[in-house]
Amino acid sequence: MKFIHVFACVLLFLCIGNPFAAVSMQAQVLRNPNVEQKIDSLIANMTFDEKAGQLSQYSGGFNDNATDNPAKSHYEELIREGKVGSLLNVHGVKTTHDLQRIAVEGSRLKIPLLFGLDVIHGYKTIFPIPLAEASSWNPGMVERDERIAAREASADGVNWTFAPMVDIARDPRWGRITEGSGEDPYLGSVMAAARVRGFQGANFDSAVSILACAKHFAAYGAAEGGRDYNTVDISERTLREIYLPPFHAAVRAGAGTLMSSFNEIAGVPSSANHHLLTDILRGEWGFNGFVVSDWTAINELHVHGIAANDAESASLALNAGVDMAMEGGLYQEYLPALVKEGKIPETVVNEAVRRVLREKFRLGLFDDPYRFGSRAREKLETLSAPFLASARDAARQSIVLLKNDNNILPLKKTIKTLAVIGPLASDARDPLGSWSALGDTSNVVTALQGIQRAVSKETKILYARGCDIVGSSKDGFSEAIAVAKKSDAVILFAGEASSMSGEAASRSSLDLPGIQGELVKAVVAVGKPVVLVLMNGRPLSISWEAEHVPAIVETWFLGVQTGNAIADVLFGNYNPAGKLPVTFPRAVGQVPIYYNHKNTGRPGNDTVHYTSRYIDLPSSPLFPFGYGLSYTKFEYGNLRLSAEEISPTDSLTVSVDVNNAGTRDGEEVAQLYIRDEYGSVTRPVEELKGFKKIFLKAGATKTVSFTLTPESLSMLNIKMEKVVEPGTFKVFVGTNSVDVKEASFKVVER
Ligand code: BGC
Repeated sequence: MKFIHVFACVLLFLCIGNPFAAVSMQAQVLRNPNVEQKIDSLIANMTFDEKAGQLSQYSGGFNDNATDNPAKSHYEELIREGKVGSLLNVHGVKTTHDLQRIAVEGSRLKIPLLFGLDVIHGYKTIFPIPLAEASSWNPGMVERDERIAAREASADGVNWTFAPMVDIARDPRWGRITEGSGEDPYLGSVMAAARVRGFQGANFDSAVSILACAKHFAAYGAAEGGRDYNTVDISERTLREIYLPPFHAAVRAGAGTLMSSFNEIAGVPSSANHHLLTDILRGEWGFNGFVVSDWTAINELHVHGIAANDAESASLALNAGVDMAMEGGLYQEYLPALVKEGKIPETVVNEAVRRVLREKFRLGLFDDPYRFGSRAREKLETLSAPFLASARDAARQSIVLLKNDNNILPLKKTIKTLAVIGPLASDARDPLGSWSALGDTSNVVTALQGIQRAVSKETKILYARGCDIVGSSKDGFSEAIAVAKKSDAVILFAGEASSMSGEAASRSSLDLPGIQGELVKAVVAVGKPVVLVLMNGRPLSISWEAEHVPAIVETWFLGVQTGNAIADVLFGNYNPAGKLPVTFPRAVGQVPIYYNHKNTGRPGNDTVHYTSRYIDLPSSPLFPFGYGLSYTKFEYGNLRLSAEEISPTDSLTVSVDVNNAGTRDGEEVAQLYIRDEYGSVTRPVEELKGFKKIFLKAGATKTVSFTLTPESLSMLNIKMEKVVEPGTFKVFVGTNSVDVKEASFKVVER
């Protein structure tokens, strides 16, 4: 019989080597008695209308450049009456200060406003989409970029971002996969914490930190069929093991707010889910920030079929733990009456108001309501040279080299004639990706521009668009074929429009859209060396391309420095090191396909009939999780463990030697996975538990060490208790989730 060792969660979280241990617990230490007293006296003085006001957020849609918006005077009036706690989609130094003035001088209680906006991957300096940045496996870089986003946004009056989006996505049909860090809870958690730290900084002493909002709580990415807003029906185990960890990491990193998601989970919409918003978030995790609903998500409780009318929707949401209503206005309309009728306890309302006020205090808005919004900073910093240099660095690190037969890449800068073909080659809009805040096409370096800048003066570039991103016209094919024929090599750009991923942009096909697949075939048929450069917001099914095109480069959407970063990689100024944060399927029918799946009783075996597989496709993916090539070659050897046996409370060190066996310097992401072989419940065939990005000079060797802590080895047993169970663990270390060295050790009860 197995002895099961149960840990107190608190102890586990303090374990050395836990990637989250270094994270400050800001949310937990913020209960400053002085602030709480001030909040007490404010609440004691508030009418129910004013309380409802603090819990209401509206979308203004105006800024310094468009002040004639007729909605503005309506909101000004509401602010004066104390009926607005926050506005979203409002920015600009003058606009935000004017409105703030009304709140702190014209309203009875003088409570400042929060100004929220979706600053997802940059404000004006647009960085790669989050899925791309996750491909860097570099949390330090991600933190830096969010810091920059916070600086630019705060200079323009914004003090709250609806980011990071930390939804795990195992289904690339879901368009919002583009906004997150991919399929893995560990990588997702590391990135979630980094983004929160980036937005919020170490503290809120300076006005360059903005409030983060981890969204969409929770399991939004598990929508059936990958269709946005669709039903989610997952087990409590999958919820806790796969979908919740990045939220927990964000909370531990001090995220001030969370956003409740649109979807239901097993019959309960998130915005009415007491178990999620109160039992887990507040009860288990000790979160003391506030929860904002997603856009009209409270109103939609009625449509879900869980509330008979709007008043019931408001009551369900507030009682469940949604503190602020984004749009929809239901709290303002119904809350006072619901309290009078006894449907919402006054204590629940007061607690929600307290949480909102606490974050306003935390941002320093009561000390200086105008601290955000600075023309001087805006001028000095926005799109400044160091920010653009960071954007270029981030874009290069986000690129994943998928194929490079015969080392066709990097190309020589002195190449004589180069064809640049494809609908995305000279495109300035799509590289900004979805949710590009105040990103402007005029600041985008297109791929064609980047290439033109990088090659020698003698190089002749022949550009042909070939076809549109969507549509079926082949009118441009002959020109594309003609320029390919005249060239020494072809760089072919293909992929998606940015509007094909993001919210409400799910796809039923993962193929290259429109006629692009045929363009690729026609250009490859010319017989010149072809480099296929992909721009897309999700994994694509590119099986034909992977077989027939000699070099493939995944660039996702890279932001304002797209062209420079792509040229850096194509011409060898930068040696690519990105690794896929999500599995690439061979065909859409394989979806969902992810590396940390269960074994089943009949694991897929392509040569055995009665196994878990498709009869018309290999079981393996096209490109596995963690995959990505370099212009050099890394070899792993001498995998060793610090012990053959450990007790459930021990940690273990895993070391491996990584050698750069090629001729170029380069970076490598060494990845550590484990498998808990036999448990009281089944465990995934592999789970990522650590990674390190290292730089190695050509020929050099480095020892990379990881620590496996009790936290890394723990699982939820049948009673959903976090435990380390005795037994054998396999350890895998390597360059991706498939190409690994293997060892094993035992956990024994001593
Ligand atoms: C999206 C959120 C976003 C909000 C505000 C909603 O439609 O789901 O992610 O933060 O709009 O723009």
